[in-house]
Amino acid sequence: MAKTKTIYVCSECGYETPRWLGKCPDCGSWNTLVEQEAAPASRLDEKKMKRAPGSDAAAVRVQDIPDENVERRSSGIGELDRVLGGGVVDGSLVLVGGDPGIGKSTLLTQLCANMAADGACVLYVSGEESARQIKMRARRIGASGSGFYVLSENDMNTVERRMQELSPSVMVVDSIQTMYRPEMASAPGSVSQVRESASMLMRLAKTSGCSVFLVGHVTKEGAIAGPRILEHMVDAVLYFEGDRQHQYRLLRAVKNRFGSVNELGMFEMSDRGMMEVENASEALLSERAHDASGSVVMCAMEGSRPLLTDVQALVSTTVFGNPRRMASGVDQGRLALLLAVLEKRVGLRLYDQDVYINIAGGMSLTEPAADLALCAAIASSHRNRPISGNWAVMGEVGLAGEVRAISQAERRVLECARLGFDHIVVPKFNLRNLRAPEGVELLGAETVVDMIVGLGLHRKG
Ligand code: TYD
Ligand code: MG
Repeated sequence: MAKTKTIYVCSECGYETPRWLGKCPDCGSWNTLVEQEAAPASRLDEKKMKRAPGSDAAAVRVQDIPDENVERRSSGIGELDRVLGGGVVDGSLVLVGGDPGIGKSTLLTQLCANMAADGACVLYVSGEESARQIKMRARRIGASGSGFYVLSENDMNTVERRMQELSPSVMVVDSIQTMYRPEMASAPGSVSQVRESASMLMRLAKTSGCSVFLVGHVTKEGAIAGPRILEHMVDAVLYFEGDRQHQYRLLRAVKNRFGSVNELGMFEMSDRGMMEVENASEALLSERAHDASGSVVMCAMEGSRPLLTDVQALVSTTVFGNPRRMASGVDQGRLALLLAVLEKRVGLRLYDQDVYINIAGGMSLTEPAADLALCAAIASSHRNRPISGNWAVMGEVGLAGEVRAISQAERRVLECARLGFDHIVVPKFNLRNLRAPEGVELLGAETVVDMIVGLGLHRKG
């Protein structure tokens, strides 16, 4: 009898090696190599493939390929449609990741319920919960419609058979880590099982035209558990962000073959499922403390969506030797840089001050356009001088204290104006091709000092 060969596979990245190693040479993680039976068939195929010339596909001109319109249907959830690029694409494979308890199952149950109410046939496969538990959730969100089928199963072969029987137009698999193919030796959740189950689902999606949503667990670092190849295989990867304590849950596309990435969907968990937050800017500013020092509004862009956020800073004298700098929602390194600019170019004495930064609503600001608002908030808190309620500030700050142009300035200004911010500081460079909306005054800043003077922050409060 032939000896079964084993290989070692990294459970983080899928790297394969014939010997056990403590550290994966590919992704550098420790203790992640697990022993698995090597699949002899694929080796043979590989050899064969090297000899055979392969399939005979001909190259075609781009202009000769007929245009194909992707068929989309609405999920009945506007925010989800937006993140998907305008609706659910037929035959697409979408991976949804996020922390436990963030609401992945709830959102996808809502999607199923909406589409079933529209007359579609949907199948919700759960490897984690019983049909009863799914029913409980479905009742909570008020699901109706006769085309909503539920299957509590881990075995991919059964899933395939049920799918062929029902031929649903939408299927949810919750979660991909609990699915397994019994003909393979490794346990559910292992690299090879996840990869094989996902590729089987991809084949099913592409051949039947059914849109498949996969729920993916995340590791403690926040990446989707299992092989990286999972993210390469699927058409779109959506991440649910925001922790359970925060009111808002943000759904982001990090990969999308049918639309733009960086689109953002905003939700709020209620007792009847996930509610869409349509007027996000208003929601984020609703609890804003008016006329408190150290707080200023800026307009961030999340994809094509302008979002007004409240940037807050607290500057207070250091009690023990080393000043503390804490940033939540902005990069710590960026904060250090801006503090150095304020110290050197504006002359604010910050070396003996603790500085705390917070972005309201648990949002995070990664774009440079937030720089100027951070500087304004810090200066305002340091001077103990509030920035009056109708100012908004945005711009990128360079090391010389210069204010650099920002992208999509017009949309940002319009959003500020819509919510009643009629005094807006923008980079001077942007003023060239910006028209102020009616009743709005634009202040062009060339340097951080211009902004400080414009807001009246150069005098002590
Ligand atoms: P769930 O969708 O199961 O999260 P995930 O699949 O991402 O792990 O549920 C999220 C949490 O939300 C859960 O603790 C229960 C709660 N919840 C509500 O507050 N309201 C609701 O209507 C539902 C269905 C769940
Ligand atoms: Mg779940």
